[in-house]
Amino acid sequence: MLDIQKIRADFPILSEKVNGKPLVYFDNGATSQKPQIVIDAEAKYYQEINANIHRGVHTLSQLATDAYEISRVKIQHHINAKFSHEVLFTSGTTHGINLVTNGFASILKPGDEVVVSSLEHHSNIVPWQMLCEKTGATLRVIPMNEDGELIIEAFDALLSEKTKVVTVNHISNALGIINPIKYIIEKAHAFGAAVLIDGAQAVPHLKPDVQDLDCDFYAFSGHKMCGPTGTGILYGKEAWLNKLPPYQGGGEMIKEVTFEKTTYADLPHKFEAGTPNIAGGIVLGTAVDYLNNIGFHNIHKHEEHLLEYATKRLLEIEGLKIYGTGKNKASVISFNIDGIHPYDIGSIIDKLGIAVRTGHHCAQPIMNFFCIPGTIRASFSFYNTKEEIDVMVEAVKKAKTMLS
Ligand code: ALA
Repeated sequence: MLDIQKIRADFPILSEKVNGKPLVYFDNGATSQKPQIVIDAEAKYYQEINANIHRGVHTLSQLATDAYEISRVKIQHHINAKFSHEVLFTSGTTHGINLVTNGFASILKPGDEVVVSSLEHHSNIVPWQMLCEKTGATLRVIPMNEDGELIIEAFDALLSEKTKVVTVNHISNALGIINPIKYIIEKAHAFGAAVLIDGAQAVPHLKPDVQDLDCDFYAFSGHKMCGPTGTGILYGKEAWLNKLPPYQGGGEMIKEVTFEKTTYADLPHKFEAGTPNIAGGIVLGTAVDYLNNIGFHNIHKHEEHLLEYATKRLLEIEGLKIYGTGKNKASVISFNIDGIHPYDIGSIIDKLGIAVRTGHHCAQPIMNFFCIPGTIRASFSFYNTKEEIDVMVEAVKKAKTMLS
């Protein structure tokens, strides 16, 4: 069992008041809060070793380079990548996905197909649409059912020799549904398609094993897993990263530059042009350590209880409907109350100190499927408590009374 009060003490913001009320932070799907150890590590980097990396022979540059590369190896082990050069630092999931779609622009041809799912965040739809426009490839979509689950038979039927890429999120940001990615990866590979997994919403809740999954790419953000904003990782299999062209040109991604021809650096540097977010990359390693010390098994158990309890309590409210009722779910609840706009509920409960996300959650196709403008999304983390859920339920009831 986790000692939640001890864990909460690690997060200074959790003892803040918002609008005069104790903060109840249920917007973890948007970004997680940061423990003091992460906040301190960021300051320590700037206070003690700030220098540019991979560039200088001077001591600080060596120290900063070592810390950055140690963090890369830490993340390699965390996701069980075979090589550390398969772990690319990015600014976040969106950056990672765009790096891949940019690369595929030189691979796809008219008539090829890209399969995305109807549960995707816009960041895993729009780059693929742009790629299809550029290459003449066709975008195909795996449909979903009323429970918010992908229809797997329909996915099977979409696959053909034309399928070159399949991409799906590990966990839906809008509904919390966990997708059967292992099955999807295996099936896609049987047709020779590459698979990118958007792991943005998964990494705060579980530890992905990229070798076991056998995915070709796995993109995620640091800020949703207790790390700093502007950090992220793109894992790519060595063979794919060698095959894809660089995303951005610039310093550090080259072997040799002349005006006639430039040759590119080896992995991972080929994809890391310019001065990166050095502090962020280092501190992401601190965040990964922090989460591993708590333990993903413990995180899962606690969040499972929160999900179960919140579902039960929210369903006590008459007229409340939960979207995403599939069995395999992370600790995210998207809901609406009959006849009330989600924004109105969100605004009232904010006055009571409760932070939830309202709207389409950058997943408009899901909202269109359910014919709704948006939902109220409560997304729980390991530092949340049942008592906070009670506070939210009472606040939603109050808002409902005010708005009915
Ligand atoms: N993708 C983030 C969310 O779902 C911002 O809220």
